[in-house]
Parts: sequence; structure tokens; C-alpha cells
Amino acid sequence: MTKRVITYGTYDILHRGHINLLKRAKTLGDELIVMLSTDEFNQDIKGKDNYYTYEDRKLVLEALKYVDEVHSEENWEQKATDIEKYDIDVFVMGDTWEGKFDFLKDKCEVVYLPRTEGVSTTAIKERLMGNKGAK
Ligand code: CTP
Repeated sequence: MTKRVITYGTYDILHRGHINLLKRAKTLGDELIVMLSTDEFNQDIKGKDNYYTYEDRKLVLEALKYVDEVHSEENWEQKATDIEKYDIDVFVMGDTWEGKFDFLKDKCEVVYLPRTEGVSTTAIKERLMGNKGAK
């Protein structure tokens, strides 16, 4: 039977932390499904302004060898239904969410992976803004 893994995120301005997460998530099964937050979910609910649109972020993720499918994350509540809808065996999140999704353990395996140190989209954006005038 094909083992299907799911994970969630924004993946704006792809960096090595994202790749490390996706690479490790893929090793937990056969197929990796990424639920990519929509522009509306990021702006209206998470309060984050993306650099790239949903379509652009999706295009980039779909080109990665670790990623098999990309679908939209539109709200906080869809996780339980996604597990059934996409026939999921393993639910993966970064460890900043440690324990927060243990309630899904009656539906599938729940795994929290350590974040890669020293890199984030927010840090990249702040650094670029600070260096605006630099050559
Ligand atoms: N991630 C990671 N290590 C990092 C950054 C992100 O493992 N250094 C993981 C997150 O835990 C998540 C996925 O990558 O599972 C997507 O994270 P996302 O929030 O899109 O990336 P960030 O760089 O954390 O973005 P931001 O700074 O906007 O929160």
C-alpha cells in the first residue's frame, strides 16, 4: 500500500530550511502532499504578506523531487478532513507546533520535525529590506 504523508506551510521564498523539511517528510512515506496556504489565508488569517503569489509558490513546490502533490490550505480547521480526503497515513509539522496536533493521532501517525537553525523567510525579508541601499 502506498504510504501518504501530508504537511502544511507557506513556502514563500524557498530556502534550505524548507528543503530539509520536505526531504525528511518524504522519507516517512512514498508520496508527499503539501498543503500550501493561500494568499487570503496568509493575509487575512495569519497576518503575513507574501512575496510570491499562491500560483508562483505552487509552481516552485511542484518542481521539487520530494513533492508529489500541492493543494490549498484555506483555514485552520481543514486538517482533520484533509486526512480523510487525501487518504493520509502520516501528518508532519515543524516542531514549533509540537503537541498541537496530537488530537489527529486517532486518524494517522503524527510527526514533528526539528526546524533547521538559522534560516527563515521572515529573516530573509528583513535582511533584504535592511540592505535596500547597499550595492
Ligand atoms: N521550516 C523548517 N526550518 C526552517 C524554516 C521552516 O523546518 N528554518 C519548516 C516549517 O517548520 C514548516 C515548513 O518549513 O514545516 C514551512 O514553513 P514556513 O512557515 O513556510 O517557513 P518560514 O521560513 O518559517 O516562514 P516565516 O518566517 O514566514 O514564518
